[in-house]
Amino acid sequence: MEWRRRHVLGLSDFRPEEIEFVVDTARSMEEVLTRDIKKVPALRGKTVVNLFFEASTRTRTSFEMAGKRLSADVVNFSSSTSSITKGETLLDTARNIEAMTPNILVIRHYASGAPHFLSRHLSCSIVNAGDGANEHPSQGLLDLYTILKAKGKVAGLKIAIVGDILHSRVVRSDLHSLGRMGARLWLCGPETLLPREMARTGATLTSDIREAVRDADAIIMLRIQLERQKTSFFPSIREYCRRYGLNRALFSLAKDDAVIMHPGPINRGVELSDDLADCDQSRILDQVASGVAVRMALLYLLAGGSHAAH
Ligand code: NCD
Repeated sequence: MEWRRRHVLGLSDFRPEEIEFVVDTARSMEEVLTRDIKKVPALRGKTVVNLFFEASTRTRTSFEMAGKRLSADVVNFSSSTSSITKGETLLDTARNIEAMTPNILVIRHYASGAPHFLSRHLSCSIVNAGDGANEHPSQGLLDLYTILKAKGKVAGLKIAIVGDILHSRVVRSDLHSLGRMGARLWLCGPETLLPREMARTGATLTSDIREAVRDADAIIMLRIQLERQKTSFFPSIREYCRRYGLNRALFSLAKDDAVIMHPGPINRGVELSDDLADCDQSRILDQVASGVAVRMALLYLLAGGSHAAH
């Protein structure tokens, strides 16, 4: 396959072959990460700018690490220490950064559509690292990659995603990556956080966590996105935890070899009990490790590579 995309804004229009192509490229990148010297010259002379307008630990570090492993120059921009605080617009900020001729701009923004908007005004490649409650494509791909590594396949597996479905951009990308590869997706959360229209994607919706996790092969737990909630969607965190927190008793309903995932940051003791977050079946840190390989693959493909880097 030949890679033709200039931007990665979301997974909604990714064909299964393209998803497989990114996964295959990420596999070659993962091999680089097992070497003594974890660096290849593929992006030497190219510049990646990380433009983050929202808090991030994993995603920003992971894109930075990915760029550096490929020998790109990586520049990090954080809105709290920038001229955004002096009233500069998103477009002006981005245009000024573009004047310094980066090749790829990785952007996280609280507004849905911000990366799409920039892609219409700038000439460099844009990667969406999370836009509001819309999409988080690299997370969708790394979740797929992690499940493929743990289970050897995704088609036919029952995958439960539990939590704040309404405000989650991770779900919206997982629906495309996991859904398109043939997973049986179950979305679960309180009625108020479970948008009915998501049933159109073919996913099964339920407010009963027992039904969602029963015989599941993988369970993805989500954080309650309080920063995106303008009203009260459930009585209290305590009540939420009692009905939707994953604990040993609930996890025992899943398949014996089921894996637990979480995009992070975890609110321990709310959506996930402490012991499960750290148990043998948790793949949460594998997700972080896979994230670097998947983001290397995306940067590599956008910078013009179309086969394995050596
Ligand atoms: C997620 C995000 O920011 O969308 N985290 C991440 O990128 N690993 C999920 C979250 O914030 O809960």
